[in-house]
Amino acid sequence: MKEKINIAIDGPAGAGKSTVAKLVARKLGYVYIDTGAMYRTLTYKAIKSGVDLHDNGSLNQLLSKAKIELTPEGKVFMGSEEVTELIRTDEVTNSVSFVASQSDVRFEMLTRQQEMAKQGGTVMDGRDIGTAVLPNAEVKIFLSATVEERAKRRYEENLAKGYPSDFEQLKQEIALRDKRDSERETAPLKKADDAIEIDTTNLSIDEVVVAILRIVEERS
Ligand code: CDP
Ligand code: CDP
Repeated sequence: MKEKINIAIDGPAGAGKSTVAKLVARKLGYVYIDTGAMYRTLTYKAIKSGVDLHDNGSLNQLLSKAKIELTPEGKVFMGSEEVTELIRTDEVTNSVSFVASQSDVRFEMLTRQQEMAKQGGTVMDGRDIGTAVLPNAEVKIFLSATVEERAKRRYEENLAKGYPSDFEQLKQEIALRDKRDSERETAPLKKADDAIEIDTTNLSIDEVVVAILRIVEERS
């Protein structure tokens, strides 16, 4: 049997990370780890508890008491509370990059994520997986796409869920989150030097999955 490796997938919002990472994991029989869901869960808890989203110490204290569980079916739990849908609201989406810029929070998240990947066999997606969490991952992918295309994808996603959104506003929100994620001091969104970049602007989901599986095949 082939040795189980770790695959790191990073990139900005709407580049297709979670969709593609899930499919790659399924194809390989690997575990998909959505690190964004972990930051979203802490953000949800901070909003609910009235904790200042810029207060590194209080957020870290909150995190130290929070058990965050990602199930193989894609559900997210905070302790016994299921938060799968609650962490996807616009309020959480537009606040999460403040929480994610706090250094102590990032250190604790990184420790938990490294523990999850220590046996190999994971496809982990986020912003700093190839650069900070799994610098020795055997395969590192950086997915990109124009902000126009990424906003279009989110727009269509919202429409499919039954609510139309303002395209220009979506574009602005995505650009702002990219800026905050790329400019923060600790582990900013950045392509690792040894990551392979795939521009998905004109690619289908299947084309991206096939491209990644080919890279995995070559490396393992
Ligand atoms: O799916 P989407 O691209 O909207 O975002 P996500 O992957 O759920 O991540 C939400 C936010 O969490 C990002 O905008 C980052 O601020 C933060 N994040 C991070 O800082 N580091 C990670 N490894 C994953 C997410
Ligand atoms: O996780 P991330 O924010 O990077 O993106 P996502 O949530 O996986 O993908 C955003 C949307 O783009 C989803 O509705 C995907 O179906 C769609 N998508 C696409 O249309 N073409 C691709 N090549 C990748 C994703």
